[in-house]
Amino acid sequence: MQKKTIKDLNKNQLEGKRVLVRVDFNVPLNEKLEITDDTRIKAALPTIKYLTSHQAKVILMSHLGRPKGKAVEKLRLDPVAKRLSELLGQEVKKLNDCIGEEVGKIVSNMEKGEIVLLENLRFHPEEEKNDYEFSKKLANLADIFVNDAFGTAHRAHASTVGVARMLPSCAGFLMAKEIEVLSDLLENPKRPFVVILGGAKVSGKIDVVQNLLNIADRILIAGGMSYTCYAALGYKVSNLLLEEYDLGIVKKMLKKAEEQGNKILLPIDLVVAKEASEKAESKVVEIKDIPEDVIGVDLGDKSIAIFEKEIKKARTVFWNGPVGVFEIKKYAKGTNRIAKTLADMQGKAVTIIGGGDSIAAIENAGLAEMMTHISTGGGASLEFLGGKKLPGIEILPEK
Ligand code: 3PG
Repeated sequence: MQKKTIKDLNKNQLEGKRVLVRVDFNVPLNEKLEITDDTRIKAALPTIKYLTSHQAKVILMSHLGRPKGKAVEKLRLDPVAKRLSELLGQEVKKLNDCIGEEVGKIVSNMEKGEIVLLENLRFHPEEEKNDYEFSKKLANLADIFVNDAFGTAHRAHASTVGVARMLPSCAGFLMAKEIEVLSDLLENPKRPFVVILGGAKVSGKIDVVQNLLNIADRILIAGGMSYTCYAALGYKVSNLLLEEYDLGIVKKMLKKAEEQGNKILLPIDLVVAKEASEKAESKVVEIKDIPEDVIGVDLGDKSIAIFEKEIKKARTVFWNGPVGVFEIKKYAKGTNRIAKTLADMQGKAVTIIGGGDSIAAIENAGLAEMMTHISTGGGASLEFLGGKKLPGIEILPEK
């Protein structure tokens, strides 16, 4: 899939032109409205710098959180504009809305090389409805549309799909890179290709497993999804560990994996506790002996060793979702050991991380630089690897 990118635009298509760029600045903020992880902002810099260095007028737009179609003070994009200005060493003016007369006036008075950031798109309910009139108002602000928001490519919204129908469009550098890396994973992985899936939820990941069963050599499953697998295999699993899910589907998936030479590996032991807190007493149990009233908080040592052994054999690894409650230090062992094993494989294997929590784990461990690629898409990367067509990508023209 070779999408047209900003590199394919000539000087006349950029210089002095108004370029509307969809970015994914949906970043985590703390109580004080400080950005706690600016990975997504940094990832958009190459596209923004390329456009300003080619004398374009850059109009950035993003959502932040889920304000449900209303202006929510703590979801304004001011902290993002501030951080972006610092990173660029250039003022990024944050506007008070994303459409309207005032916005139109400011945009039409922009100088070459100037950057503005529109207010949170999701303050308008029309954004998520991919409303025609709303898309038109956004599109009217610009001459060209660039989509660099891979993290939002699985959403068919006005700012991802609507405007792409109305303006000459192309992908930004981040979008192009994500498509390239993840397509390579599906079409041409260096083998053995090992996938590690953790995290709390099953839903959203079953499709990924189904698709990757045809592609990967091994799938290591931990966390919430592994308990559901055990329940499907007939083990007695505490209700506290289970997300409601159709066990029939999981059973079928496990059967297929078994026929393919036990492609799916599940943990054999777990660290369990009554609650996910530092002070709760924890112990290691074999999967067949999980007590009724506990939750899983980490992989047990035997499982960590099995996972590590498999990972070390790989030439390509994709990891989504921590294998324990890594935010609490005493339950971070499994997650940290996986992060460290991947870091040690630098130069020997392609290591790709997707999903907010596993990225946070890698960042916390200071190992991000040692990974081949950290995807800015959580849901988007999972849908991509699940074999789904992402509307924000589909709508962009081919080269
Ligand atoms: C994400 O963080 O995964 C994207 O920004 C999409 O956000 P959404 O799940 O609220 O659409």
